Amino acid sequence: MTYTAIILAAGQGKRMAAGENKQFIHLLDKPLFIHTVSNFAEDDWCSQIVLVINPKERDRIKQLLNQHPIRKPIVLVNGGKERQESVYYGLQMIKDPNEIVFIHDGARPFVMHEQLHELAYVVKERSAGLLAVPVTDTIKQKKGNELTTLDRSTLWAAQTPQGFRKQLITYAHEKAKAENYIGTDDASLVERLGDSVAIVTGSYHNIKLTMPEDIERAETYLKDRKMY
Ligand code: CTP
Ligand code: MG
Repeated sequence: MTYTAIILAAGQGKRMAAGENKQFIHLLDKPLFIHTVSNFAEDDWCSQIVLVINPKERDRIKQLLNQHPIRKPIVLVNGGKERQESVYYGLQMIKDPNEIVFIHDGARPFVMHEQLHELAYVVKERSAGLLAVPVTDTIKQKKGNELTTLDRSTLWAAQTPQGFRKQLITYAHEKAKAENYIGTDDASLVERLGDSVAIVTGSYHNIKLTMPEDIERAETYLKDRKMY
């Protein structure tokens, strides 16, 4: 079985406050996005990579890809202002409506191949799935001055990749776009169609580098590759 990976790197990394797109931050020997792209390139089931970038960073990204060659077909596509727009532009590069497409954050370098394969099986059967982990914190909901405690046993933290048949996720994006709806992830666009999205239990190591504190943790994981 094979899939196409859309890897998103067109953000600004504001919360990381690195003074530039966090994708360029070095984790040990390589920039963040190179770690993520290489991880997918090393998975035999990944047939091609669509890397979504900020057009202003195209030359720099090309140069870094030359320095760190990727052994998979890779196309660069210009992203948009919102993550959702970036995904939409990435989807335009995939022709086959039956293709299994994984949408993944460039800032998430540690996803395990085993879980990518599990997700591919699920998408083949069910058309939509995502990696997620049970929430470990107690989550409170605040409405006005009222606090309620949500039932933790029903709560999952969504990760990426999120995988779909190309036709389904493209339709979900087109509908959201036509209705000016912006979701917080891709699965939510499919959920609002009334379609179910399957959960593949992920790993707590599949972190997204978001805040400066995450860098140290990521480097620790890299030093001990057994951990992911
Ligand atoms: N992303 C993208 N296009 C956008 C916004 C985000 O391709 N317009 C990508 C980011 O590069 C990142 C992924 O989506 O790999 C997840 O988003 P997030 O962690 O929020 O990254 P940033 O948007 O870059 O960070 P911040 O929200 O802190 O500015
Ligand atoms: Mg963001």
